[in-house]
Amino acid sequence: MTQLGTLYGVGVGPGDPELLTLKALRVLREVDVVFTSAQAKSGTSIAQEIAAPHLRDGAEVIPLAFDHTFEGVASGAAHRENAAVVVEVLRRPATAAFLTLGDPMTYSTFTYLLSAIREILPDAPVAVVPGITSFAAAAAAAVEPLAEGDESLCIVSAAKGTDLLRRALGAADSVVVMKGFRQTAALCELFESEGLGQQVILSARCSRPGETLVRGTTRIRELPRQYMSLLLARRKRGPNC
Ligand SMILES: C[S@@+](CC[C@H](N)C(=O)[O-])C[C@H]1O[C@@H](n2cnc3c(N)ncnc32)[C@H](O)[C@@H]1O
Repeated sequence: MTQLGTLYGVGVGPGDPELLTLKALRVLREVDVVFTSAQAKSGTSIAQEIAAPHLRDGAEVIPLAFDHTFEGVASGAAHRENAAVVVEVLRRPATAAFLTLGDPMTYSTFTYLLSAIREILPDAPVAVVPGITSFAAAAAAAVEPLAEGDESLCIVSAAKGTDLLRRALGAADSVVVMKGFRQTAALCELFESEGLGQQVILSARCSRPGETLVRGTTRIRELPRQYMSLLLARRKRGPNC
């Protein structure tokens, strides 16, 4: 039987290098190969920037190019192509880490890549190192609880519009909206229609240089749109609830 290396999906946290876990640190120091999701312009990534000082001497860094458009993700072509590269490395055998900003199991390219890898190599040895997600870091930066007691928390994507937020606001006490930078105005309107305009917090580039934290839809609307931004809002309940 061919020996295979293990693939680690490693969450490197929201951006602050100090928000890397000890386990992520250990894995980064041990692996032979590090895969990154390369940004088209620079060829590097924030995740790589965070991991770089911890890699062992001689570790090979392989940037993988992904197509993040809706059509690209739906076709799965880049995932299949990159999965073949990862499988080739695991078959050497070599151990490898795929770096993810935040957590690898939360809105991450890692899970798509993993499905494509399993189509080629169903028994690929895989382990996931969780990371601090952007919304946990944003709540910490705001010093605001995401949820308390029996409150419910709903995390939605606004990549395709406001519908998921509308549904979440009907069901949850507290919401996190990710990937919503193109929809800021419509999202603000929706929060206002629910009487939550003052409660909304926008966190942009959380834990990165240039970090912004803004409260209230009036101020949020004035900001330039940023991909690395999210919204938090929690209905205030009475003290006896
Ligand atoms: C593809 S998702 C990645 C989520 C990531 N895996 C996590 O656990 O946070 C990208 C979205 O995450 C949010 N995001 C990621 N990093 C962020 C940061 N440092 N500050 C604010 N939002 C961030 C934004 O909503 C962005 O559009």
